[in-house]
Amino acid sequence: AVERTLSIVKPDAVAGNHIGDIYNRFETAGLQIIAARMLHLSQDQAEGFYAVHRERPFFGDLVKFMTSGPVMVQVLEGEDAIRKNREIMGATNPAEAAAGTIRHDLAETLDANAVHGSDAPETAREEIAFFFGDDELHSRG
Ligand code: CMP
Repeated sequence: AVERTLSIVKPDAVAGNHIGDIYNRFETAGLQIIAARMLHLSQDQAEGFYAVHRERPFFGDLVKFMTSGPVMVQVLEGEDAIRKNREIMGATNPAEAAAGTIRHDLAETLDANAVHGSDAPETAREEIAFFFGDDELHSRG
């Protein structure tokens, strides 16, 4: 089915000048970028976005890293977009990511792992709504 998923190019990958490389991987895989914005997350925004991880031991470091510089947030649309994006990203830990994936090629550590992608349809809906209104999603069919 055609799905939408929320993607973030994290501060490490923006600082590393990898936005275009990462967007090219999405488009080459048949995913369309139907919304995009650069922003520097506030503490409140980062804590809100990652609220599901609030009790995890890495939460403080995660929020600190995600507010350390600008990010690109985008909505990807396409057939099987959630799974396809996760495949393109590779494993959460770059050390475990398969060759040819974004995290293998461009990331260094578990926090500085270049990209975020929604993990399921319900979280995709919530994460997209966190950043974009319906009128900002430019679906082209
Ligand atoms: P992300 O997909 O953005 O979702 C939560 C992030 O927490 C994850 O990518 C990692 O960058 C970061 N993180 C740090 N430590 C861990 C951990 N032990 N397990 C999972 N995610 C972690």
